[in-house]
Amino acid sequence: MILILFGPPGAGKGTQAQRIEKAHGLVQLSTGDMLRAAVSAGTEMGKLAKSKMDAGALVSDDIVIGIINDRIQEDDCKDGFILDGFPRTVAQAEALDEMLTQQTLKLDAVIEIKVDDAALVERIAGRYTCANCNEGYHDTNLKPKVEGVCDNCGSTEFKRRPDDNAETVAKRLKEYYAQTAPVLPYYADKGVLRSVDGMQAIDDVSAQIASILAV
Ligand code: AP5
Ligand code: MG
Repeated sequence: MILILFGPPGAGKGTQAQRIEKAHGLVQLSTGDMLRAAVSAGTEMGKLAKSKMDAGALVSDDIVIGIINDRIQEDDCKDGFILDGFPRTVAQAEALDEMLTQQTLKLDAVIEIKVDDAALVERIAGRYTCANCNEGYHDTNLKPKVEGVCDNCGSTEFKRRPDDNAETVAKRLKEYYAQTAPVLPYYADKGVLRSVDGMQAIDDVSAQIASILAV
């Protein structure tokens, strides 16, 4: 199964992708996570990406298309994958179509997670992740079962993203409406677009997604 989780910053793409990964054994491919790893490793690509990410702007299509093209050819993608944060421009969507055609793969669904802007800002402000395994949490909406200990791996180290500040979030939202939302009609025209109400609790959003995947 090949899925795209689509939505604005803070909509819950990463949260739901991690759950689908566990439930369906599909690998989560987050371009944001891959770019952050390149920034941490100090690679040439990471250096190019860092200034864009810090400014809340999109990294160039060439870079992210190249990353995904290489990644989907790896062994762990052969039973399917979940794209989280890609495609984010119409050019990326067109490039993805070409990659899938070349590998005789088919996109099963694009799931749009709809959330109000005010809730997005609140979600991003409270977000943190495990520094070891990247499991996602929130100060009020999703705390670890034991305070200060990751449910998934037991680590006690957590981190917050440098682009999760009010000024950059406003820019990321602007970029979403200018460049990424226009991708929705592209998939609606292909008949693969499904929408879920992302204003519900995390478990309820997961249940809506599960019912789409069960069809
Ligand atoms: P990326 O890492 O993809 O960030 P984003 O799209 O801004 O999305 P987020 O990761 O912030 O949000 P999310 O939807 O994953 O929400 P989450 O599940 O964490 O991209 C970062 C940057 O990289 C971009 O700005 C760009 O520069 C670059 N980039 C990446 N991909 C690119 C591409 N394809 N092209 C060009 N540039 C690219 O949830 C948020 C919080 O809310 C969590 O704390 C969670 O616990 C909580 N939460 C989740 N669901 C709910 C719920 N239903 N109710 C209450 N709380 C909830
Ligand atoms: Mg994310």
